[in-house]
Amino acid sequence: MAVSFNADKTSGANPSFWTEGVEPLLFKKLDGPLETDILVVGGGIAGLTTAYCLAKSGRKVSVVEDGYLGSGETGRTTAHITYALDDRYYDIERYFGLEKAKTIAASHIEAILFIEKTVMEENIDCGFRRVDGYLFLDPTDKHENLDEEFESTQRLGLPTEMLYDIPTFAGQLRERCILFPDQAQFHILKYLKGLSAAIVRLGGEIYTESRAADIDKRGATVNGFEVRANHIVVATNTPVNDLFTMHTKQWPYRSYVIGAKIPKGTLPYSMWWDTGNQDSKWVAKPYHYVRLEPFDDRDDLLIAGGEDHKTGQADEENLPEEHRYAALISWTKARFPYFNETAYRWSGQVMEPVDCLAFLGRNPGDDNIYIITGDSGNGMTHCTIGAMLITDLVHGRENSWESIYSPSRITIKTGGDFISEVGNMAYKMAKDWISSDIEKPSDLKSGEGGILSRGLKKLAVYRDEDGALHSCSAVCPHLGGILQWNNEEKSFDCPLHGSRFTAEGVVINGPADSDLAKIRLEDD
Ligand SMILES: Cc1cc2nc3c(=O)[nH]c(=O)nc-3n(C[C@H](O)[C@H](O)[C@H](O)COP(=O)(O)OP(=O)(O)OC[C@H]3O[C@@H](n4cnc5c(N)ncnc54)[C@H](O)[C@@H]3O)c2cc1C
Ligand code: FES
Repeated sequence: MAVSFNADKTSGANPSFWTEGVEPLLFKKLDGPLETDILVVGGGIAGLTTAYCLAKSGRKVSVVEDGYLGSGETGRTTAHITYALDDRYYDIERYFGLEKAKTIAASHIEAILFIEKTVMEENIDCGFRRVDGYLFLDPTDKHENLDEEFESTQRLGLPTEMLYDIPTFAGQLRERCILFPDQAQFHILKYLKGLSAAIVRLGGEIYTESRAADIDKRGATVNGFEVRANHIVVATNTPVNDLFTMHTKQWPYRSYVIGAKIPKGTLPYSMWWDTGNQDSKWVAKPYHYVRLEPFDDRDDLLIAGGEDHKTGQADEENLPEEHRYAALISWTKARFPYFNETAYRWSGQVMEPVDCLAFLGRNPGDDNIYIITGDSGNGMTHCTIGAMLITDLVHGRENSWESIYSPSRITIKTGGDFISEVGNMAYKMAKDWISSDIEKPSDLKSGEGGILSRGLKKLAVYRDEDGALHSCSAVCPHLGGILQWNNEEKSFDCPLHGSRFTAEGVVINGPADSDLAKIRLEDD
């Protein structure tokens, strides 16, 4: 029987195809003090891959995960394992130079090989398979850009080809596209299950429903108990150990996914990506990403994603969260007209770094604290690269990726886009302090939330399915952003750095590390 995650233990109200399809990956709670060599905070692909690499290298590893394994953004991914990055290689070449760009491209290929080898060595039954992928132009993008991208991939030594139509694609048959051969896909939660079994076999410990706080160079407090460690890896998607530094270098975006059943054999297992809407107001141009996953004996699941916007700012395009799926379905049907109904819909949060690359390695200013963050839409490979790199750093081994992915790096990309994103934060901060979505509690129907002004106070108010009213401060405990109601995932989301809270104010995503303050409010 399919088991859903406990609603408090996932990062959204809509279960994904992955989280519905497997038993929750649950271990025991940490219930006492602990001494270990390496403490890994976070049980997504980043934390578990790092724990696996370190345990395999002979180190004593303890993983603590706030929810279940995979209950963060990893459980809401679409799991394209690819070196066709969601930023363009010609931009990466511009920001990092040709030689570093070659190393970057090679690091993603190495990550795919690592995953493939791990699946084979650990005998993980997760449907890993190699597939071809096709990158084609969004109608708003220029033809020269596809040529430029192709030329860049060739300079970097990638085995790409320019094709003159998009295989198996119904909409624009004579469109050119770049073929990226031999990409990969898998069932992400089955992969995590295999990794977690291997970690335990190698002597590692995993604790779920175990929340870390007060992280410093000595360890952390977990479920109120002291945990001492020689090295600490913060793999919480967005770092929860840092108030400011990293949150000025990356920005949260919400991305939407649908899963639709189509009869097996209609399409070959492949991946398709467009180059993104260049007319979009967002710095990270939203693009579409599509692939197939086996569903049952009769059907495959066509999984399509896109329609992104900055977290908490869907209304800035007059397209609230719940209407994004209609746009996604219509885009998908125009190109893959093989399905009638969507079986799944969910959304998740992606951290977009300022210069296309994730931040992987030593936390700025720390010797023994490491972070994996800023994965953009390439978290499967970025997190795997982070795991391999951090393993070398812990062992004191040199790694040519260290300076490229360093969270302390400074690149030329601190100009226009950086200023736009910072400007967007300042604008949101000012605008949200003077606006509210509801005037009184009775404006809310059951299952709805909103932001209410009471004098100088901002309240995050939610009416539950039984009609009871819940009220908290709408001021984000991280750095004071005003939260926005996300009616689709039933959460309060911070538009500044992406902290998120359940409808009743419990923190789900950092960087905030505490719940919302409760505020008494009479119903009217
Ligand atoms: C809709 C969507 C589609 C995507 N598609 C792709 C794709 O096709 N290909 C690709 O490569 N990438 C994709 N990505 C990106 C990728 O899924 C993510 O980058 C990746 O899963 C992040 O993994 P993680 O381990 O860093 O974070 P998470 O999976 O979020 O793991 C972090 C964990 O830390 C835990 N945690 C947080 N705070 C604490 C604490 N204080 N104590 C203990 N535990 C804590 C959380 O509960 C969470 O489980 C997609 C993302 C989204 C949202
Ligand atoms: S996440 Fe930084 S202010 Fe809310």
